[in-house]
Amino acid sequence: MTTTEGNSVKFESRITFYVVLCWILAAFGGLMFGYDIGISGGVTGMDGFLIKFFPNVYKRKLRAKEDNYCKYDDQYLQLFTSSLYLAALISSFPASKVCTKFGRKPTILVASVFFLLGSGLSAGAHQMWMLILGRISLGCGVGFGNEAVPLFLSEIAPVEYRGAVNILFQLFITIGILIANLVNYGTSKVHPWGWRLSLGLAAIPATGLFIGSLIIPETPTSLVERNHEEKGRKTLKKIRGVDNVDPEFEQIKVACEIARRVKHPYRSLMKLSSMPPLIIGIMMQVFQQFTGINAIMFYAPILFQTVGFKNDASLLSAIITGLVNVFCTVVSIYAVDKVGRRLLLLQACVQMFVSQTAIGGILLAKLNATNSLPKGQAWVVVVLVCVYVSSFAWSWGPLGWLIPSETFPLETRTAGFAFAVSSNMLFTFVIAQSFLSMMCHMRAGIFLFFAGWIVIMGIFVLFLLPETKGVPIDEMKERVWKKHPIWKKFMGDDADDRAKKTIEMS
Ligand code: BGC
Repeated sequence: MTTTEGNSVKFESRITFYVVLCWILAAFGGLMFGYDIGISGGVTGMDGFLIKFFPNVYKRKLRAKEDNYCKYDDQYLQLFTSSLYLAALISSFPASKVCTKFGRKPTILVASVFFLLGSGLSAGAHQMWMLILGRISLGCGVGFGNEAVPLFLSEIAPVEYRGAVNILFQLFITIGILIANLVNYGTSKVHPWGWRLSLGLAAIPATGLFIGSLIIPETPTSLVERNHEEKGRKTLKKIRGVDNVDPEFEQIKVACEIARRVKHPYRSLMKLSSMPPLIIGIMMQVFQQFTGINAIMFYAPILFQTVGFKNDASLLSAIITGLVNVFCTVVSIYAVDKVGRRLLLLQACVQMFVSQTAIGGILLAKLNATNSLPKGQAWVVVVLVCVYVSSFAWSWGPLGWLIPSETFPLETRTAGFAFAVSSNMLFTFVIAQSFLSMMCHMRAGIFLFFAGWIVIMGIFVLFLLPETKGVPIDEMKERVWKKHPIWKKFMGDDADDRAKKTIEMS
């Protein structure tokens, strides 16, 4: 039975053990991404790692009088973190091709092989080139995984749970970051090769993803799109746990029929009517990075050392922020389809602005080049970082991925999403490559810099981001874009609309 409730359509379905297993297995892709994000900050603080690959940074670290804000400012050290995102940026385009041509499942399989290769290479590295090659391989894993996993999750989720299931990806990212922080806490005590353990343990989630990619089905959408109609219907029955899947299957077929007529998805992405989802998809990711979140996620242990904690205490503080990140992501799973996307994003802008400005203010007033903060004030900074991370976790974190995955029509979905993924990677790369240098030059002002961006993104949400809560993916154009005071100017009754109407009538 199909029912309509307000804006949203419901098809008959049951949540089966099999479908939950598929969500979890695929979400391992998020875990890998999170592990890679969280592991590098701790590793770059470990003496054994610095002595082997970055002896100059190590010497600088030993000189007690070295400038607080500058002791880790080293282009190569930053390249260790950032090279992964550069590789992910470049590989997300071939990944989108593989995703369309061969399906989501093989794309996830390729990602897991890159991850396995990357963890082996970086854990066993004896020379710089091996380390960088390992990072590049992990980056390709992220490029392929981040392209396919959110799409896979959105496509196999029943319509009414799409938002929540998609956020599983983000939840697993945060769990990955937390696990990485815990691993670093343990391995930092293993001298001089603890860093090898940290990098090598990534092979465990990578194996999980590899096995998962063999178990999960291909999505019905991708099967139908590639002309495997009967297999698509069978898979839909299996993942929905019911026999009558005809209404949903018909909808998939219509979307695929339109998609098949589009021979050049990248060219159609450049059409005027594709601009609204494209601009929103790209800007959501750019802004997500300009919240400054990865300054915290990559370099939290270094940041906490900068405010005066010893190595252990700073790794512990990174674990606390990691926990806050996980728990507050769960909040968004409940809230996203109730209070809506816009409210979550706007509330978070206020909370992030206040906490960033307060951190910047304290550091500006109290931390100079060579002192450290009194214990009490250093803990206030940790609390403020948690306040900041919590609001990111229920807003820009998950919604940065959710909104671009739900606003493109099928014919431009993988291509459009590739732009969103690569914008994320580009700006993740920029932050990873420049944060330590920016901290050295801008000092506490770096936090005020990010606070300034938060004002801009708040204005963007207020005027340009439409609410997409409860709107079925294939009706975005009619119900969202054509009704928005600014974006409606980009929408016409174009060829796609006419094709859709013809197919629906026939
Ligand atoms: C972002 C990552 C970030 C993570 C933090 C993700 O949505 O894409 O860059 O590190 O959230 O939880």
